[in-house]
Amino acid sequence: MELRPFRNSDPPAVCRLWDACGLGPGASSRLSVEEFDYYVLSQPHFAAEGLILAVEDDRVIGAVHACLPITTPGWEPRGSQGVISLVLVHPAYRRRGIGRQLVDAAGEYLCGRGCREVLAGETHPTNPFYLGLYGSAASAGFLMSDFAAEPFFKACGFGEYRRWQVLGRSLERASEPFDPRVVANRRKYHLDLRDLPPNATARWVSREGRLEGLWAGLLADGDPLPVASCTVWPMRVRSESQCGRVMGVTELFVPAAHRRKALAKTLLLDLFRALRADQTTAVEMVVPMEDTATKCLAQLLGFTPVDTGIVYYRRLTEIVTPSVE
Ligand SMILES: CC(C)(COP(=O)(O)OP(=O)(O)OC[C@H]1O[C@@H](n2cnc3c(N)ncnc32)[C@H](O)[C@@H]1OP(=O)(O)O)[C@@H](O)C(=O)NCCC(=O)NCCS
Repeated sequence: MELRPFRNSDPPAVCRLWDACGLGPGASSRLSVEEFDYYVLSQPHFAAEGLILAVEDDRVIGAVHACLPITTPGWEPRGSQGVISLVLVHPAYRRRGIGRQLVDAAGEYLCGRGCREVLAGETHPTNPFYLGLYGSAASAGFLMSDFAAEPFFKACGFGEYRRWQVLGRSLERASEPFDPRVVANRRKYHLDLRDLPPNATARWVSREGRLEGLWAGLLADGDPLPVASCTVWPMRVRSESQCGRVMGVTELFVPAAHRRKALAKTLLLDLFRALRADQTTAVEMVVPMEDTATKCLAQLLGFTPVDTGIVYYRRLTEIVTPSVE
């Protein structure tokens, strides 16, 4: 078995590997070359040396995808922190140490280019490639529904960095919780849906924009500044597995001066109304495990847990051999 960087002729083999891996419900069940190209290869920060393949007799049997901090404006690079976005080993080759060798090779790649720490699992704002193909409404690390990921990364010496709750709810129920503040807010503000946020960043355009995302804001007439906003985008992966149209809600934000006035609730209820009219059957959100405010709001609105995502962390000097340092 040899480890080598990605070559231009590899996409069909990488897609076959992805399909064979039998990833859980948060992943696209069949990855086409066109999708791989659109979501991953065409990103300006894609570097072939970061996508390392395990090859035996010309057959791709494993892959790891590492990314250096992205310095494009709007991407908020995290100092010297690199990311392992993906690790896959063909089921017929598991428990032979190939996954561990791939993670070590990703560590050497990142360390050799100045990174001193690595996160395993994409998460905002370090989600360079797989949002839309893996995860939920937002990148949430590696999902627990991919049951091998947690014991694997712990065995590779990674600790837990952050935990996310994936929440979902159906939109088929028409009645929503009553709150008089929502009625009052609706007299004052209206829902505005746009295909670009007022201050769109390069990151938003190349991630959420690429996923046909819409910006939703609650605005008072004549005031350009929203009192609550979020992004909403069609989740093709979940829509396939649930046989309905599932939308992801992300980047929910209420400015500090407007909090505790039921404005997030008003925004989401108005958005659900608009989505329901547009044949959406369910919505999904990702909330940091420690964010009790958003979790309470989601519970009030009828969301229930669907999955858990974990991001792992390791200092790179602990991974690589001294000769690489
Ligand atoms: C996770 C994955 C990459 C591991 O690949 P692998 O080549 O089997 O891993 P290794 O053989 O290097 O395992 C190293 C250690 O991790 C742990 N480990 C790996 N898979 C495990 C599992 N299914 N259950 C418990 N521990 C596991 C073990 O401690 C193992 O050492 P051991 O075999 O000596 O006990 C592989 O199972 C896979 O491709 N899964 C599907 C894809 C996935 O979930 N990727 C993460 C999200 S993209």
